[in-house]
Amino acid sequence: LDNGLALTPPMGWLAWERFRCNVDCKNDPQNCISESLFMEMAERMATQGYKEAGYEYVILDDCWMNKSRDEKGKLTADPERFPSGIKFLAKYVHSLGLKLGIYEDIGTLTCGGYPGIEGHEEEDMKTFAEWDIDYVKLDGCYMDAAEFGTAYPRVGQFMNKTGRSMVYSCSWPAYLIDSNETLPWKDLIQYCNLWRNYDDIQDSYDSFTNIAAWFAKKQDELIPVAGPGHWNDPDMLLVGNFGLSFEQQKAQMAIWAILAAPLIMSNDLRDIGHPYRRILLNREVIAINQDVLGIQGRQTASSRAKGIEIWTRPVTPTTTANGATVYSYAVVIWNKRDDGTPYPYAQPISSYGLTEKKGYFIRNLYTGQDYGLLQPNDVLPLKVVPSGVVMFKATPVVAIKTRSVQEDAQW
Ligand code: DGJ
Repeated sequence: LDNGLALTPPMGWLAWERFRCNVDCKNDPQNCISESLFMEMAERMATQGYKEAGYEYVILDDCWMNKSRDEKGKLTADPERFPSGIKFLAKYVHSLGLKLGIYEDIGTLTCGGYPGIEGHEEEDMKTFAEWDIDYVKLDGCYMDAAEFGTAYPRVGQFMNKTGRSMVYSCSWPAYLIDSNETLPWKDLIQYCNLWRNYDDIQDSYDSFTNIAAWFAKKQDELIPVAGPGHWNDPDMLLVGNFGLSFEQQKAQMAIWAILAAPLIMSNDLRDIGHPYRRILLNREVIAINQDVLGIQGRQTASSRAKGIEIWTRPVTPTTTANGATVYSYAVVIWNKRDDGTPYPYAQPISSYGLTEKKGYFIRNLYTGQDYGLLQPNDVLPLKVVPSGVVMFKATPVVAIKTRSVQEDAQW
């Protein structure tokens, strides 16, 4: 969607994966969907380094609403769980330099059974604008998928009519995965800033690997449709939760960076161990994810026998003296084996598609280790732990600018 927003994949925090539809504030006040939950997460985002690293949107998911609209048909937040109202929450989030996202559903009800937008499209968009919302996630329950093609664009038009800039996240294709039709890519690019593609992520390595496998299977279809303003969304980051090991969490962050995926955490920022926080705040991995070109990467090799997958993404091209464009690359080697030992993987860098004759400077983005300058036939000796990754960036020699004498003189 060409609305000037989401020029790089959106980054933020969303309640769903971790907090679900927990509305029991009486027995579980710390974890129920309530204004204090979002205020606490926003506060942590602003003060624990996440905001500086680029995480920006704090996003409500299902179950924030009152079970029915008010007498005028307007949406309202549950008065017990959100006593100050959503406009207040937006004000608080904005005061921290962050943005607020909200959740609605295209159909008659949300998946959790709260009022959907159908029949109230214009007034709900007005309400969201009035509340100073910055991002809308529009789910796809309780509507016949055949109607999505008119319904999602229509809501977008009303959103646009409000005059307020709001990122538009559509769940549209996630509800079409079982249909045999080709997905409406042209419409998605035109009407949505991001769209959920496949199954909901759950807190398990299985769920994460299934999503990654689906993205690999469909990559020739998915890669061309991603770019500034319009992104494929493989769903939330599980980092900081229970289901993935430390190494598997690094793997998810790495694959999401290759996929140019929105980096939307769903975890408890009030209670997250330092090593996990470091994964989320890894500036070099984030920089790959946020590369301004927005080219979605791909799985370039997958060997069943070896149990190793290679994923690569071109980033930040440099123009050489003779006018050629040379890309840097992010490369992830993912060990899908389960035989316990860190797997020795030593290949010439040409096997990763790194064929510039002068060579590349190679740097491990998780350990910070520099491997120095390697030419295409030079072997990069790696060890990849089971279910974990090595992620490196290869910067072609031609992209390294040496300071000129004149520049030196200025110092
Ligand atoms: C289905 C969506 O895909 C999830 O992300 C979440 O929003 C739930 N619905 C909420 O009911």
